[in-house]
Amino acid sequence: KSVAILISGGGSNMLALLDDMAKGDHPARPVCVISNDPGAGGLARAAERGLAVDAVDHRKYRGDRPAFEAELTRRLKAHQPDILCLAGFMRILTDGFVARWEGRMLNIHPSLLPKYRGLHTHARAIEAGDEEGGCSVHEVTSELDGGPILGQARVPIVPGDTPEALAARVLSAEHRLYPAVLRRFAAGDRTPVLL
Ligand code: GRF
Repeated sequence: KSVAILISGGGSNMLALLDDMAKGDHPARPVCVISNDPGAGGLARAAERGLAVDAVDHRKYRGDRPAFEAELTRRLKAHQPDILCLAGFMRILTDGFVARWEGRMLNIHPSLLPKYRGLHTHARAIEAGDEEGGCSVHEVTSELDGGPILGQARVPIVPGDTPEALAARVLSAEHRLYPAVLRRFAAGDRTPVLL
């Protein structure tokens, strides 16, 4: 299976996926990394690993999401990916784009869905006095952060935790969870990974 990864920033989740796919016994291989930000640090890290990289600057489409997504689709088509992994990708995709990729597009979200969809997940979990935080990988559907769960990893929230401390703890769990989910998903197995 060929995999395209969409990023917006540093791409630490992208790297975890690339490193795991480089192990050779993996049912998937990466074909390209595309960002909505030409300055995304992850593009250089992907290029260093010999991967095709591309960027479609969403600021050039001033709120015209369909036009942005048409260009994104054109760039993706060049690589014929079977699977799309959103990894720290911070743009909301329209129902049209999602429908075209339904069943083949994954996203990682830094909370134990269905809790804390949207932003500021760590601060909200701490604020609520939760004893655990975590991350979820789900299939992307038109419901924001709402598709079928393919994996979850739980981490403790300790007294005095700041959102930054929890974010770091969750991020390292993401780097374990996402590769494990992609291995299963690319092999056609949708059994949730629970870490
Ligand atoms: C992180 O906040 C992570 O929790 C979320 O996206 C952000 C950046 O991730 N998934 P990455 O380092 O760009 O993969």
